[in-house]
Amino acid sequence: MSRKIGMWLYSNGGGDKIQDKIVKKLKEREIETVTDIKLHNAIAKNGHILYKKRKVDELDLFFSYNAGEQTQYQMFLYQALNRVIPMINSYDSFALTEDKFQTSFLLQQHGVTTPEFQLCHRDNSKHLEKIMKKWSKMVYKPTDGWGGVGLTKIESQETLDMLMPFLNQMDLRFFYVEKFLKYDNTDFRVDIVDGEFVGCYGRKASKSDWRTNITSGGSVFLREPDDDVITLAKKASKICGTDIAGVDIIYDLEREEYVVLEVNGIPAFATPEQEKAGLNFNDKKIDLIVNMIDRKTKK
Ligand SMILES: Nc1ncnc2c1ncn2[C@@H]1O[C@H](COP(=O)(O)OP(=O)(O)O)[C@@H](O)[C@H]1O
Ligand SMILES: [Mg+2]
Repeated sequence: MSRKIGMWLYSNGGGDKIQDKIVKKLKEREIETVTDIKLHNAIAKNGHILYKKRKVDELDLFFSYNAGEQTQYQMFLYQALNRVIPMINSYDSFALTEDKFQTSFLLQQHGVTTPEFQLCHRDNSKHLEKIMKKWSKMVYKPTDGWGGVGLTKIESQETLDMLMPFLNQMDLRFFYVEKFLKYDNTDFRVDIVDGEFVGCYGRKASKSDWRTNITSGGSVFLREPDDDVITLAKKASKICGTDIAGVDIIYDLEREEYVVLEVNGIPAFATPEQEKAGLNFNDKKIDLIVNMIDRKTKK
């Protein structure tokens, strides 16, 4: 076999089975796969990136799909590796989607509606008070968070006053805040691979939380997206340059339009339980990924 790629895919939640399927389908196209290349255990030595004596930089492509084990070190190697071989997602796109501010900024630049946001320097807390007066409710977001963790709803000047000492203590460089949107506490998660619509599901926040994330008590349900949602997700993915994306969309009841909350660069495949419940687009996603790897490694 002349083509060989590297892969690092999460193994929990059915990831191991997904990996087997991808490896098998690649083999049918005469593409060999080296699995479980854990970048965070690799080392860079002179002009090479080594993992268990293998030169990762000599592979034809690297498919990085492990959300649970991101470290700064591994991002560093990701960046270096992508200077010499193609990666899915590219380093630039992945780094972009890891940052909510950078993503929202770029999306709005290209005419995609996101929640109104502001970024201000930590020394400029006076500005936060001004924003608060204008918006009346806002969400403080860590720009590199996931799973709803660290998101804080600020509903009044008093909450802000209470929060400030904590935020100041955290040694942040900046505050990223969004206007708190009125919505029905449900969202759309739309998967896009290689510019194509793969599938969609919905998430609903629990009665006691405003966040739809599963880790915040939200639940998944089957949801058909209308064309506007699909078009918006494709556009967001294109702007971010992602080969694979899971776009989070909610409907803003005030502005009466769909808005993009964030773009996820490693959207999980449906788990076996979710597949049983009817989320049936894993195979389509696998096929699109395999086609894309095939195309990107053509010699
Ligand atoms: N501006 C907002 N207004 C209202 N709800 C929001 C807003 N931003 C996020 N949320 C809620 O919080 C959840 C998590 O936000 P998100 O930006 O997707 O971050 P995470 O990476 O933690 O999932 C969303 O799914 C949504 O339910
Ligand atoms: Mg999200």
